[in-house]
Amino acid sequence: MRMRKKKNGAQRIAACSELLVSDVSALSEPDAIFGASRPLHLEIGCGKGNFACGMAEKYPDTDFIAVERVADVCCAALEKAMQRKENREGDNLRFFIGDAKILGEAMKPHSVDCIYLNFSDPWPKKGHAKRRLTYRSFLEIYRNLLKEDGILKLKTDNDGFFASSLEEFEACGLDVVWQSYDLHSSDKACGNVMTEYEANFSEKGVKIKSAWVKFPDAKEN
Ligand SMILES: C[S@@+](CC[C@H](N)C(=O)[O-])C[C@H]1O[C@@H](n2cnc3c(N)ncnc32)[C@H](O)[C@@H]1O
Repeated sequence: MRMRKKKNGAQRIAACSELLVSDVSALSEPDAIFGASRPLHLEIGCGKGNFACGMAEKYPDTDFIAVERVADVCCAALEKAMQRKENREGDNLRFFIGDAKILGEAMKPHSVDCIYLNFSDPWPKKGHAKRRLTYRSFLEIYRNLLKEDGILKLKTDNDGFFASSLEEFEACGLDVVWQSYDLHSSDKACGNVMTEYEANFSEKGVKIKSAWVKFPDAKEN
């Protein structure tokens, strides 16, 4: 996501510190972050935070950590979450600024119930395939993070990214338990919380592709 550099970005992020996991080591103890032991959902590449805010409001008994590697983008998400604070019944939303590739080291194995990949950068060039958040090295991280019955939920506007993701899922022996080439006309449409990209693309008439994926050999320790 491109974004003009924010003026006073560091101060603006600091003003939202109550919603920020600023120490990576804290990610290994989500119960301590939230002061409760509840299902844990992770959004990777949260952008400006609409989905994370919407989900945290809709599911007060689930904890959400939204990860975004671009600090200025996460700043927008944090400020949105601060503004929407009153809408949340639970203290169940945090943001982490960093790259998804460190999550395998930072978090406890098999501690996450659900991972969301929403409108991930498609990296269409073959030479950039390893950067895709559904490339096999990332799938290995998710396999290690997810609980035995955990699930990965993906949404995208991009046909090429969707096709390559489905290929990676198959190559890695994952089970696609549900998929649609038109999420908004599917049986999952009514529970769907839109992201910023999703709203933009669907306004332009682009159909949203989605897949829900399970990892058959993700095992509790
Ligand atoms: C195309 S935007 C989509 C944003 C949002 N999910 C939406 O649907 O509106 C993808 C976002 O993922 C973030 N991102 C890409 N790779 C990432 C990674 N490895 N770790 C964390 N965030 C990442 C980008 O910085 C960008 O903000």
